Amino acid sequence: MHQKLNIAIVLVYCIFLAACGAKGDHTGYEYAPQMYHSVPYEGLSQVTDEGAGQLISNREDGKGEFFNSNPHNPNRMNMRQPPEHTVSRNPYGLLPNNIHKDSFALAERILKNPLPETAEILDEGLVLYNRFCTHCHGSTGAGDGLVGQVYLGVTPYNSAAVKDKGEGHLYHVITHGKGRMLSHASQLQPMERWKIVRYVQTLQKQ
Ligand code: HEC
Repeated sequence: MHQKLNIAIVLVYCIFLAACGAKGDHTGYEYAPQMYHSVPYEGLSQVTDEGAGQLISNREDGKGEFFNSNPHNPNRMNMRQPPEHTVSRNPYGLLPNNIHKDSFALAERILKNPLPETAEILDEGLVLYNRFCTHCHGSTGAGDGLVGQVYLGVTPYNSAAVKDKGEGHLYHVITHGKGRMLSHASQLQPMERWKIVRYVQTLQKQ
């Protein structure tokens, strides 16, 4: 009797040991995976594409959690409509946009710089430009920064292709990158990008 119990204990122990192991292509078993992989919503973002992503919950209407769960928010955002004057998005009332990274023409049409063209903004734009862009684009925007001399093909701002591009286009390029230039969204806050845009506009005219 004792022997059988011992064997059973060892067997159960082995099963426990083997059950969660992760190796090779196998990531191991997870209990209740929805708890590990929650879908974090950005309060100020919109999820309106019913086809996007994979459904993780089975709502009766079949929409699951990827569809905007708050159709009552006037801006169709994920957050509830806050009581008036309680939530400041930012001093300029900017809403996040979800323009696709390839939609340059759309960005040019609808994105507007909330910052005025003042000497102060231009000064701040210059500082940020020197930190994030000069090494490739050069201080005059000719594409001849120290990195640009090696990482060839940096388009000059006053070239025919770029000189007439509007502020929305410039902002979109900084945010998402274009061609061989990578996105700077993780390094620069939206307001910093708009300051740089003001400064780059002065270089387009040179
Ligand atoms: C690592 C080098 C590098 C850095 C850093 C860089 N760029 Fe670029 N940029 C490029 C290259 C290369 C291109 C040409 C992209 C292409 O068309 O393939 C380019 C293109 C551009 C264009 C022209 C886009 C168009 O419409 O053709 C703009 C505007 C621009 N960059 C702005 C910036 C600004 C503003 C910054 C700083 C926030 C910046 N870049 C930082 C390499 C860089």
